[in-house]
Amino acid sequence: VDLTTFAYGLPKAELHLHLEGTLEPELRFALAARNGIELAEKTVEEITATYDFTDLTSFLAVYYPAMNVLQTAEDFHDLAWAYLERARENGVVHVEMFFDPQAHTSRGVPFANVVTGYRRAAVRAQDELGVSAELILCFLRDFSAEHAMSTLMEALPYRAWITGIGLDSDERDNPPAKFAAVFARAKAEGFFTTMHCDIDQKGSIEHIRQVLEEIGVDRVDHGTNIVEDPALVAAAKERGLGFTTCPLSNSFVSEEMKSDEIVRLLRAGVRVTINSDDPAYFGGYVADNYVALAERAGLDAGDLARLAVNSFEASWLTPARRAAYI
Ligand code: ADE
Ligand code: ZN
Repeated sequence: VDLTTFAYGLPKAELHLHLEGTLEPELRFALAARNGIELAEKTVEEITATYDFTDLTSFLAVYYPAMNVLQTAEDFHDLAWAYLERARENGVVHVEMFFDPQAHTSRGVPFANVVTGYRRAAVRAQDELGVSAELILCFLRDFSAEHAMSTLMEALPYRAWITGIGLDSDERDNPPAKFAAVFARAKAEGFFTTMHCDIDQKGSIEHIRQVLEEIGVDRVDHGTNIVEDPALVAAAKERGLGFTTCPLSNSFVSEEMKSDEIVRLLRAGVRVTINSDDPAYFGGYVADNYVALAERAGLDAGDLARLAVNSFEASWLTPARRAAYI
C-alpha cells in the first residue's frame, strides 16, 4: 500500500486535539441556524477566506469568535461527535481531547452544557465506534490564575469525566509558573497534567524548563524547541516524557512544520507523537499530519509505526489498556 493508505490505517492515539478546533464551517452554519444566530459570513468560502493565519495570535482572533454558535449540550455533543467520526476514519482508536470551558462560561454558557455534551459524545464513541475518548480540561493562560482555580473547582463535581488538566491559548507573557498553584491543586486531585509550550521567541526554553522542573507535568504539548537544550532533552528522554507535536498547525502558527526538530527528537528516542491540534483550521486531521511530516522529512512506514506506538506510550491509558494496542 502507499504511505497515505498506511498512515490512515495505522491504529493510533490522538493526544493533542482541541474540540473547539474541530468546528468545520458547515457545522458552524448548522448550529447558527439552530440557535438563531446571524453570521457575518454567508458561505463556506467566505469563512475559509478568513483562515490566513500568520501566528498564534492571528489564529486565536478567528478561533474564539467562531465558538459563539456553541450553546446547548446538544451543540457540544454534535461538535465532538463529528470529530470522533472523522478520527475513526483517520485510524484513531483512542483520543484525549482538549476543551476550553472558559471560552464558553465567559460568554454565559453554563459549564454543565459544555461538559455533559462532550461527555455524551465520548460515551457514544466507545459504544458505536469502538473509540475510547477522554477529556482534558484546559485553562486559558491569558486569563488569571484565580479564574483557572475557580474553573477547576467548577469541574470537581465532574471529576470522573475529566482525565487531565491542560493549559492553552496565548503563551506570550503567560508562563507556566503563573499557574503553579492551580496545577499543584489539579495534581492533588489526581488529574494528569500537560501544558502547551510553543512560543517561538526568547523564553521558549525557559517555559519548557518550568514545565519539566517546576510544574512536573505528565506530558508537554508542542515543546519541540527543547532541541535547543541537550540536557533538557536527556532529562525528557530519561523520564519517558511525551511530546504532542502538530506539523500542520506548526506550518500555520510558526514559520514552518518544525519537521527537523520533530525528527531529531524521534531519532533521539524521545517519546514524540503526531497530532492535529485544530484540524478544522489547519487543513488536515491526524493521519494527514502523519503524511505531511513523512513527505517533508522523508519518513518511511516504520517511522510512522514508531510514532503511532509513541502515541499509545505517551497516552494516559492504564498499562493494561495500553498493552492492547502496542
Ligand atoms: N488553542 C487552540 N489551539 C491552540 C494552539 N495551537 N495553541 C494555543 N492555544 C490553542
Ligand atoms: Zn494545541
